[in-house]
Amino acid sequence: MNLMPTSYQTLADELTALANAAESAGHLMTMIVERLRELLPHYNWVGFYMLDEGENGAEPMLVLGPYVGAETPHKRILLHQGICGAAVSSAQTVVVDDVNADPRYLACSLETKSEIVAPVFVRDKVVGELDIDSHVPAAFTADDRQLVEHCASLVGRYLETTLPAETRRPS
Ligand code: SME
Repeated sequence: MNLMPTSYQTLADELTALANAAESAGHLMTMIVERLRELLPHYNWVGFYMLDEGENGAEPMLVLGPYVGAETPHKRILLHQGICGAAVSSAQTVVVDDVNADPRYLACSLETKSEIVAPVFVRDKVVGELDIDSHVPAAFTADDRQLVEHCASLVGRYLETTLPAETRRPS
């Protein structure tokens, strides 16, 4: 059963169609952030971070990917830092109604009041996340969560299709 309101469902369906026609994962992520920012006024900063596992002893970290909104000083985030690190480390969506009351929060803009971060999974493993900031306190409802998780899953599924066939999840 899908509980999203019609407008969110229409947007989710549109993004699914975009995912089916995307030329690359980067292209898909760019279209998602632009469309969300364009249609949802309370989504003030919308961006993907992708996980760099770290090689030769380097620490794993999140690296900023396609985004729309104010420039952020947080282009690379270690997994023990921020709401972003918490979502990846716990492999769960994190919703923060009041970022200023959360000691984990790394500030991007002074105007940000609330945040949602949904992990991107490929074969049950976190490979990145979709991060959204709002200037509105407690902006993210259960419907937003469903939409944001849908967007994250579109990217995860797209990335799965780029894997060698024998390693893909059966459809
Ligand atoms: N607020 C995030 C950092 C990313 S910026 O907001 C774009 C965090 O606490 O991890």
